[in-house]
Amino acid sequence: MIILEKIRWKNFLSTGDTWTEVVLNKHRRTLISGKNGSGKSTLLDAWCFNWYGKPFRNIKKNSIINSINTKNCLTESEFKINGVQFMVRRGIAPAVFEIYQNGELINQEAKSKDYQKHLENNILKVEQRPLEQVAILGSASFTPFMQMPLGARRATIEDLLDISVFSRMNSTLKDQQKQMKDEYAEVSQRLSTGQRNIKTFEALLETITNQKDDIVNFKRDSIEQAKKRLEVISKEMTAMIEKKAEVEKKYLEKKATYDEYQNAKNRLVHDCRTGEIRDQKDEDFYAAHDHCDVCKQEIDDKFKSKMSGEIQKNRRDRQQLRDMIAEQDQKWMGIGNEINAMDQEIRGFMTSLGKFAGEIQTLQGSVASTIKEIESIEKKTDDIAKVQAELTKARDEVDRHQKLLNGFGEKSNYFTAMNEMLKDGGIKTKIIRQYLPKMNKYINDHLQTLDFFVNFVLNETFEEKILSRHMDDFSYYNFSEGEKHKINLAVLFAWREIAKRKNSCSTNVLILDEIMDSSLDSEGMDNLMTLLESIDPATNVVVISHRGVNESSFERHLRFEKKQNFSELV
Ligand SMILES: Nc1ncnc2c1ncn2[C@@H]1O[C@H](COP(=O)(O)OP(=O)(O)OP(=O)(O)O)[C@@H](O)[C@H]1O
Ligand SMILES: [Mg+2]
Repeated sequence: MIILEKIRWKNFLSTGDTWTEVVLNKHRRTLISGKNGSGKSTLLDAWCFNWYGKPFRNIKKNSIINSINTKNCLTESEFKINGVQFMVRRGIAPAVFEIYQNGELINQEAKSKDYQKHLENNILKVEQRPLEQVAILGSASFTPFMQMPLGARRATIEDLLDISVFSRMNSTLKDQQKQMKDEYAEVSQRLSTGQRNIKTFEALLETITNQKDDIVNFKRDSIEQAKKRLEVISKEMTAMIEKKAEVEKKYLEKKATYDEYQNAKNRLVHDCRTGEIRDQKDEDFYAAHDHCDVCKQEIDDKFKSKMSGEIQKNRRDRQQLRDMIAEQDQKWMGIGNEINAMDQEIRGFMTSLGKFAGEIQTLQGSVASTIKEIESIEKKTDDIAKVQAELTKARDEVDRHQKLLNGFGEKSNYFTAMNEMLKDGGIKTKIIRQYLPKMNKYINDHLQTLDFFVNFVLNETFEEKILSRHMDDFSYYNFSEGEKHKINLAVLFAWREIAKRKNSCSTNVLILDEIMDSSLDSEGMDNLMTLLESIDPATNVVVISHRGVNESSFERHLRFEKKQNFSELV
């Protein structure tokens, strides 16, 4: 239970720069009076604004601040929950939001939205709507339970019974179900993308592997061709070398005899030339000399004629020899030509062999380099490895997503089961069913105290049936304003009792704003006062009225007045 002790406010609506403070836990019954617009209902707005950041009435946040002072709009509440003292301070211009626990400021590091959540969920443990339903009966912009649509009635009762947690769980569950559906769609999408990727990578891998094989095969072919060509060349070379050797042998033989002849001939020609020179010298000597200085003898004509005969004979012999040589030369000239031809042939062989050797070198070089190329292509598995890695990755992903999809089936079963439990007809309805007779009893008891003899029945769907002696099956709206007020009061008191029992949204304060002033006749008011007296002595009732009410029924009387445009307590 929350014991609200004090609320104070300044620069809030028509209140000026001095605090207006109302102590709430000291008197069982307080009357707040004052003329219209004097600032009575401001108490409700200050309270709701302080706890929830939203006033009780539908006032825009920026028009809460006092329009004359336009700054330092501030509210403070002091309350106790299970012996722990709290103070909440909230204001505008400047913005203030502070929660104090036993005098110490609670860490404000979190966002103000989270700070508010902390206040509502962990400290107050009650939201604005259910609190209003048990603590306030107001005329201004207040929707009594009976005027709520069925969904809001359900929510209020769930809060009262403290079972709204199941609704929150259900809405979380729905969010999770939606999330799962989205995830399922996303995972399915990824799965099919993954499957497509696998196909693409497989095709790519095949293409790359084939391409590599094509290149290697082409290179191997070229090596084969080079080797064949080398074989051909080698055979041709062997044949050529043999042929060359044969020609060379003949050449050498012929050349040897040819050279022999030439040498012999040269010797003969030389002999002829020296013989001629000698004979010419002798002939010249015999023509010029008749006496020999060496042997000291006379050279006679006879001797001269004999010597001349010999010289002539020598000359004839030499001529004969020369003729013979000329004849032989004719014969050897053919052989010389043959030798030359053979020489030419040998040179031809050598040129061809040289060319072959060059070609062999080129071919062998290209074979070696092609082998190296093949080796490096075969070693070069980078691209293939990359694609293979991608393929493995894609397969893993597909596996993972397939497992996830299988997991969704289980999760979906779990959600269905949870949904059965948490839906409106499930666990909540069981609890509500249990409490409904009690609620109806409280309401009917209070209606009797208010002198309103009807049988009020709220069913599981929170539709009401109100039966009385002459009227069957009436609804709330069939009744007069005063009667409706009585029903509202009876419901409110019933809710307070339920809240107290469930320790859900129970508070010491009950504020009735303008309830006395409208619709209730004097008898109705007397009944209400009886009802107020009958309720739990720990409840602090505040009745707000702008009309003369019997003051004697109240322990305390506070009066609001507006002085020079500012509301104040007098
Ligand atoms: N931002 C504001 N600055 C100054 N005054 C404001 C501001 N907003 C509202 N008011 C005035 O404050 C007063 C609000 O008073 P409140 O509603 O508390 O009166 P009340 O005493 O409950 O009157 P009633 O008996 O008619 O219900 C009104 O006169 C209203 O015009
Ligand atoms: Mg008012």
